[in-house]
Amino acid sequence: MLFNNDIKKNNPYHVAIIMDGNGRWAISKGKLRIYGHKAGIESVKRAVNFALYHKIKILTLYAFSRDNWKRPAQEVSALIELFISALELEVKSIHSNNIRLRIIGDISCFSKNIQDRISYAEMLTKNNDSLLLNIATNYDGRWDIIEGVKKLAEKVYRGYLYPDQITEDTLTSQLATQELSSVDLLIRTGGEYRISNFLLWQIAYAEFYFTNVLWPDFDEIIFDSALKAFYLRERRYGTVLPDINK
Ligand code: IPE
Ligand code: IPE
Ligand code: MG
Repeated sequence: MLFNNDIKKNNPYHVAIIMDGNGRWAISKGKLRIYGHKAGIESVKRAVNFALYHKIKILTLYAFSRDNWKRPAQEVSALIELFISALELEVKSIHSNNIRLRIIGDISCFSKNIQDRISYAEMLTKNNDSLLLNIATNYDGRWDIIEGVKKLAEKVYRGYLYPDQITEDTLTSQLATQELSSVDLLIRTGGEYRISNFLLWQIAYAEFYFTNVLWPDFDEIIFDSALKAFYLRERRYGTVLPDINK
């Protein structure tokens, strides 16, 4: 096993991953894009097990963006079916591994049946505390901020909150990721150097790790490399560290 056991001290608390490159992976093998999405589910399982093993507390995975509706209808429906079947197949093992599952994103567009299955999985696992697994489905970072602002505006309108009481914390608590939101390490596979409207507010001081590896090839070695890179980063949050402030 290639798990990096030795350095635990500076483990990222919240890791987010933009799981990109499924389509290209499949095309490179002469297959349809959906074949890559299926293979990507195995990488999700590897990433979750790795996060559990390394005691990462929050893992947020970008599974489907609101802009992904622009893809051919066949690919979109295949992606949604895969998401639902993976949820059905994995919910027991998620629960038995003491993982709390949360689906973040606009699920209102899904059928009642899908919404019920999501609620069931979230309810079943809500007291688990080894790992919080956020799956971003029909997610969009700007949408998330707008929804949070709308909730705050509603509170102001109803007289529960003064505009002056709006702070970083009050907005943070209204986002899909709720109060535990700051991302420590953001990984993107697939060789693109962009955020693609993933967690925008939450990545203010995240460390970024980009890799050309396509998502279905993502494994413990790559995750471990990302952690090692993270350990070497010096997070300054705008200040100067004592040893360089001479
Ligand atoms: C990521 O892989 C999965 C989703 C966006 C749903 P892609 O489907 O974007 O794969 P590439 O980037 O086209 O290779
Ligand atoms: C981002 O990947 C969305 C997910 C990984 C779910 P995309 O493949 O949709 O991003 P772009 O289009 O390359 O920016
Ligand atoms: Mg892509």
